[in-house]
Amino acid sequence: MKFKGCGTLVMTFICIWNFTSSSICTKWGHMCKDDRTLIHCAKHNNRWVESVYQQCDANFRCNKVTNSCVPNYPVGVRFDCESDGLFPDPYQCATYYVCYWDGGALHKIFARCPNGQRFSPVSSRCSVEEFELTTCQRNFNCEYPGQVSVWPRNRNIYYICAMNNDHSLYPKVFRCSDEMIFNGTECVDRRSECYGFEER
Ligand SMILES: *[C@@H]1O[C@H](CO)[C@@H](O)[C@H](O)[C@H]1NC(C)=O
Repeated sequence: MKFKGCGTLVMTFICIWNFTSSSICTKWGHMCKDDRTLIHCAKHNNRWVESVYQQCDANFRCNKVTNSCVPNYPVGVRFDCESDGLFPDPYQCATYYVCYWDGGALHKIFARCPNGQRFSPVSSRCSVEEFELTTCQRNFNCEYPGQVSVWPRNRNIYYICAMNNDHSLYPKVFRCSDEMIFNGTECVDRRSECYGFEER
């Protein structure tokens, strides 16, 4: 088909472009660009582009799991029994908790290892080796409420970060059934994963 006499059709595309092309975007949606910057990623003309939509306020940080600005929550000191068994004290190394069922309720005993020993999360006993092997450091990391993690060095134990009334975060510590390990989402049969107590 010919358009005789139509002259030249000039098409003009006008782009109002407030995105910049991105080297870090890999999928649509929002993500943390760095500790303080939340961006939105989109693909246009086969190119990833990003636009900043939030700079986290002071005392907030961009969380790479939730992809949102979360406050720098203080750490609350609290331990509740959530299931039965022996639990490392989340805040100290030479103490532990014994949680047991009695009369339809969970009860809690706070216990201390003998001098020169620490509670080993691996063996769930007080041990001299643990005292000699490890420096005492906090074994959990709570950055936002609802964060779920496996306990360091014992995948039979996991925790969920919960919030106190004063907005501090503390770990609710659980144990999987014997022979089960926490795979990051749920307790699964140890044999379905490679054997061991290694960290993720
Ligand atoms: C955990 O195990 C469940 C059930 O086997 C599986 O569906 C899920 O993908 C696993 N999660 C991870 C993070 O491996």
